Amino acid sequence: MVKFSYYGHSAFLLDDGKYKVLVDPFITGNPKATVKAENVKCDFVLVSHAHGDHLGNAPEIAYNNGAAIVTTPEVISEAESIGRLTCHPMNLGGSLDLPFGRVRMTPALHSAGVPGGIACGFVINIGGLNFYYAGDTALFSDMQLIGQRDRIDYAVLPIGDNYTMGIEDAAQAAKLLGARKIIPVHYNTWPVIAQDAQEFKILAEKETQAEVLVVEPGETLELD
Ligand code: NI
Ligand code: MN
Repeated sequence: MVKFSYYGHSAFLLDDGKYKVLVDPFITGNPKATVKAENVKCDFVLVSHAHGDHLGNAPEIAYNNGAAIVTTPEVISEAESIGRLTCHPMNLGGSLDLPFGRVRMTPALHSAGVPGGIACGFVINIGGLNFYYAGDTALFSDMQLIGQRDRIDYAVLPIGDNYTMGIEDAAQAAKLLGARKIIPVHYNTWPVIAQDAQEFKILAEKETQAEVLVVEPGETLELD
């Protein structure tokens, strides 16, 4: 069993009961956040790219918790502007064994937010479940390879449009991944990425075998 806590936008926490893995913690300035950055506890912080709505509070949360930050070298350089952090630099296609399981860095079709960098996603293996977090991305056909490599129990996909996939492309992504369940993120934070999550649920459940879980900011789900 893994607890999934959603903090709004693309910020979430996975907790297997022993280790807490925080992803893209944009808390301060996130109009949907229901927690304060100083109250977030974690052991690892995964960051998909350096845009402010993803790197967010990652440096200070990592620093305050003594948590390791897992991201690309360019984003680590950006994060370390606040001071020396415990870091696991990775790059696309690479896997890393961590105490809770395994993390693989996957491509994302998006800008990096830092010169010379690339945006990424992650396949996170924790508590016997595989979570694919796409990060910010366009739809790309190699998502099929991601689903062939690992059984995707939960696909955490952006649906907001404008900066990322919208609902039609996210439904196609779910199909390529063969995901068991889908959790939509990166929508309704601001008017420019307003989406009807129920419309996405109807569309994606019609086009795929997956079940869509619409999670409200501040909500925690127990997943298996
Ligand atoms: Ni971005
Ligand atoms: Mn974003």
